[in-house]
Amino acid sequence: MRAAATPEWLEDAVFYQIYPQSFYDANGDGIGDIPGIIEKLDYLSELGVNAVWLNPCFLSPFEDAGYDVADYCRVAPRYGTNADLVRFFEKARRRGIRICLDLVPGHTSVQHAWFQASGRHQRNRYSDRYIWTQSVWDPGAPPLRFINGYSERDGAYGINFFYCQPALNYGFARPDPRYPWQQPTDAPGPRATRAELKKIMDFWLRKGAAGFRVDMAYSLVKEDPGHEKTIELWQEIRGWLDQRHPEAALISEWGNPSESIRAGFHIDFMIHIGVPGFPSLFFKSKSRNCFFDSRGGGTISEFLDEYTKHQRKIRGGYISIPSANHDMPRPGLDRSKADLEVIFAFLLTWPGVPFIYYGDEIGMRFLPGLPSKEGGFGRTGTRTPMQWDGSRNAGFSTAPARTLYLPIDPQARRPTVGAQENQPRSLLSHVRRLIALRKSSPALGAKGKMTPVFAEPGKYPFVYLRQRRGERFLVALNPARKPVTVTIDAPGPGEMRSELGRGATISTRGGRCRISMAGVSYGIFRLA
Ligand code: NOJ
Repeated sequence: MRAAATPEWLEDAVFYQIYPQSFYDANGDGIGDIPGIIEKLDYLSELGVNAVWLNPCFLSPFEDAGYDVADYCRVAPRYGTNADLVRFFEKARRRGIRICLDLVPGHTSVQHAWFQASGRHQRNRYSDRYIWTQSVWDPGAPPLRFINGYSERDGAYGINFFYCQPALNYGFARPDPRYPWQQPTDAPGPRATRAELKKIMDFWLRKGAAGFRVDMAYSLVKEDPGHEKTIELWQEIRGWLDQRHPEAALISEWGNPSESIRAGFHIDFMIHIGVPGFPSLFFKSKSRNCFFDSRGGGTISEFLDEYTKHQRKIRGGYISIPSANHDMPRPGLDRSKADLEVIFAFLLTWPGVPFIYYGDEIGMRFLPGLPSKEGGFGRTGTRTPMQWDGSRNAGFSTAPARTLYLPIDPQARRPTVGAQENQPRSLLSHVRRLIALRKSSPALGAKGKMTPVFAEPGKYPFVYLRQRRGERFLVALNPARKPVTVTIDAPGPGEMRSELGRGATISTRGGRCRISMAGVSYGIFRLA
């Protein structure tokens, strides 16, 4: 069956990722909550975003920040109630903002009722919901990792991530006869798990969710070379979704658009996991600087080659480059406001669907060296509370500072919304202007065509053309401190008008354009 068209609303969607623990604490218990997010809807509207990805907000012992779900259909009391979540869907929707939930289909918490039943000695309807070996002394087979001795069942269970995240059983692509506990994907256990997944999706979509970001979407079928059986599984789910909820967005944490879009996802991320490319934009490696580094020495090619390879292969889906997420350092780690402006000029003029991680729009820092919180480990410093204003706890919560979910950035000059919202030159204002320009310009939206114009390995600047339905923009980025000038073929006969920019000028003569760029500058030019 041919997949239905990609939901139209994704064409000009700009997502904002909210980590509910750290956004806004409405009841003063030191942790963010859903009523708190509702209170901040004005902020989201003014920013201009029209979609939200909300990290897991379901019942959980929080050994992995909620990615260890104990009940998929119940909001964790620390965040509020199901009614609060539905209220959030409705209030956001009235402002044109759609809310996507985080779906964790690959594993549950050990506290989930399914796992508790599955761990019983007596066979029951959940015995095959997870992957169990046939004896507690049977260590299983790599690459799946196993835990033994946890419950009365005589077997060891396979895990997807931490010890407390048993892998749900979607079967094995090619069950190995040496391991009789490996079931085929069409065995009753895996089929029941798949049916349950649809039920959960249906439950929240009926209540008003706009779609899902799917955790570790590539991981469902085990021993699956090329992820072929996992792709089939998602194609089936997409087919079902197209019938029942054609407007729902399916967003994968897969990190390989050529696979995930074929699997039926509307959006996949290029991030720090999966195919290469993304880290070369933002993270310095042992051998070279990243592209967005004022010291220069990076290259755009590593990212661009990989991106182009996937872009050519995919049909009917989008590749997303997020500003960061809860698993990786923020771009504000060690960059100036000018550096961040260039990064946002890139993110918000790039094709596909942009995702802004909460706080990146004001330049929040990554806080190194924090003790691990809820399984965060090295990721903890990217999950600290949103900095709203100059009041106590940066306006995040009225609770005593020592009881906060995570400490606030202690820096006296930490960025805040309050200090930036009425300042036309602030990073926040810059991001707002970029979002507004993107939303009003189809050429800059998800579907606008992108053609590299100047993208030489190891060189700056990076210049590309965006076009759609007669509208054309030229975007030039120089993240490096060294000024640079390039001459390119003019993208058309008309005049080039600067829409947004700092430190970049353009002059056209005889069919050629000369772009002069100061250190750490950008220019977005519209072809009249
Ligand atoms: C990816 C999530 O983004 C991450 O935070 C989580 O720890 C793992 N998947 C396990 O669910």
